[in-house]
Amino acid sequence: MGIQLDPELVDAIRAAESVVVMTGAGISAESGIPTFRDELTGMWENYDPEQLATPQAFERDPETVSRWYDQRRANIAKCEPNAGHQALATLERWQTKDRGRRFTLLTQNIDGLHRRAGSANVVELHGTIWRWRCTKTGREREYRHIPFPSYPPLSEDGGLLRPAVVWFGEMLPEREMMTAQRECESCDVYFSIGTSTQVFPAAGLIQLAHASGARTVEVNPETTPVSNLVDWSLRGPAGTVLPGLVERVMPPTGT
Ligand code: OAD
Repeated sequence: MGIQLDPELVDAIRAAESVVVMTGAGISAESGIPTFRDELTGMWENYDPEQLATPQAFERDPETVSRWYDQRRANIAKCEPNAGHQALATLERWQTKDRGRRFTLLTQNIDGLHRRAGSANVVELHGTIWRWRCTKTGREREYRHIPFPSYPPLSEDGGLLRPAVVWFGEMLPEREMMTAQRECESCDVYFSIGTSTQVFPAAGLIQLAHASGARTVEVNPETTPVSNLVDWSLRGPAGTVLPGLVERVMPPTGT
């Protein structure tokens, strides 16, 4: 059972010189990673994620915060990219390798699943859970081994390690944010996929793209604050909607 697709949307994507996609936690939901606004379960059910993902929480209780991130790291390690991630990687290859056009994937997710699915031009606006930063030296490196030997984890330099992710109240990385703004100002089609569009500045980028003349598309089973702004609202899970859309947009192989 496919979703009804407006031929004008298919034409707009085919004609686009530049496509920007913004993803949020919803695209990874079908891989088994809970979204932010899902209720927390198990040992974390009494915690509010917005209370854990802050510099203040880490200062107060680095052990609890690093255990929470480490449990997420362990959960993500068990998850695989889903059909939604894969459809975006396919669309990027078609747009860039086959047609020599632009494709930029902005993500608020820290799980790394887009790269694992084969997406190449990924801008991680909120960082990645696979890198941790020494709070003493500022040095970052990849930590894939689970679990850490002790909690809170320490770097080789003896400083506390924190995940290299953006916490509430922190600035987004400057280079990534500038890339995102530049691409939004010049794209022809902007997708907002699996995000509640509530957390700024990422949530503001759709307005920038819209104001710059892009056609906008939302993929989400629920309505969001931007549902009335977008040109097309595709109500459904990304893992179903995106493969159907990409199949319609791309010519059959061999043509
Ligand atoms: P949210 O948890 O706020 O929103 C997830 C969105 O995904 C909701 O709108 C759901 O309706 C939608 N959704 C659920 N299942 C879906 C599916 N299968 N397909 C498509 N959409 C689906 O997550 P984000 O918008 O990513 O920031 O949250 C933004 C930021 O707030 C996060 O990056 C994080 C957070 O608190 C920081 O930690 C700085």
